[in-house]
Amino acid sequence: MKSKLLGILLVLVMIVSLIGCSSDKDTSTSSDKSSDKKDIKVGIAMPTKSLERWNRDGAYLKEQFEALGYKAELTYSDNKSDQQVNDIQNLIADKVNLLVIVAIDGESLTTVLKDAKDQNIPVIAYDRLIMNTDATSYYVSFDNYTVGKLQGEYIENTLDLANAGDKTYNIELTAGDPADNNAGFFYNGAVDVLKPYIDKGTLKVVSGQTEFEEVATPAWDTATALDRMQNILASYYADGTQLDVCLCSNDSTALGVTQAVDSDYAGSNWPLITGQDGDVANLKNLLDGKQSMTVYKAVANEAVVTVALAKEILAGNKPDSSLTSQFKCECTYDTTSYDNGTGIIPSYLLVPDVVTNDNYKEKLVDTGYYKVGSDGYLTAD
Ligand code: BGC
Repeated sequence: MKSKLLGILLVLVMIVSLIGCSSDKDTSTSSDKSSDKKDIKVGIAMPTKSLERWNRDGAYLKEQFEALGYKAELTYSDNKSDQQVNDIQNLIADKVNLLVIVAIDGESLTTVLKDAKDQNIPVIAYDRLIMNTDATSYYVSFDNYTVGKLQGEYIENTLDLANAGDKTYNIELTAGDPADNNAGFFYNGAVDVLKPYIDKGTLKVVSGQTEFEEVATPAWDTATALDRMQNILASYYADGTQLDVCLCSNDSTALGVTQAVDSDYAGSNWPLITGQDGDVANLKNLLDGKQSMTVYKAVANEAVVTVALAKEILAGNKPDSSLTSQFKCECTYDTTSYDNGTGIIPSYLLVPDVVTNDNYKEKLVDTGYYKVGSDGYLTAD
């Protein structure tokens, strides 16, 4: 028992020292472990284990809740929306006191969350906003529009588009899952930067596919992004047309696009490829020069903010902007950007960061998020 406690404390100390966002209040673990906490249970509903980041998010949240003395039940729903509804129903039946949910389909939780509300179970939408339900109390995420903006600006700056003169570049666009409310924010953030250059002709989308619906990738699936890119390469680039840029909204789609370029692109150049998340496979591509950047979101910090918020809600408080002063990382309280169809959901938004081959050591290794493995590539273990 003593060693288990020690283990938990060690995890907490590791988390607190690893990340830039420890909450001032979370460090006082002895009082936090008061007996009134041990009967409080938090339900955490994650989408899938098949996309790397959700494994990290789930583990961080569970560890941090447990380190504070709460019970935590964690579910993964294999990216199947019906299964997630079932899993949430079971968490409610298990009498959880609070739910933290990453929605697989933001539009499909209205009914199950009515049950949560009827039973006074507060809901935190984690990373993805849950739509059309007044049961969502708060939203914790990164600034999703900025994620896309950073991808667009990376392309703009790397190609020096503002000074391109008559020079033109060919680009293809790959966005995320239409069922994920974030996907539109990412895409719009990037396209708002790139559109003036597309309109001017500096950037040319050779396939002509620019509407979100045409470029979206259901379930953020790597194989779907790969297939679509292979089709585009076969239809528009087989004659030797040069492909200069692939905007990809995240790393799972970037992985598919990179594979397609690797196997099916006839040109001798390698296009710029963007991403998001810092998945291990993509960081390997980054080091190999195949992916140009990833927008890194320190999900350990997202967990810190969520746990601190949950703690306040469970204590019967109504958290507001003052909560942000506890955090050692930048976090804004936003009451204008995220309307889920029933009104604005108060949001705590963290700040994403650009990682490239030039700065990955400083951003990812020196910060302790990743280690350099014996093969020279980054590992999260
Ligand atoms: C997250 C991204 C992630 C994507 C696919 C989005 O909601 O914000 O970080 O890449 O889902 O899992």
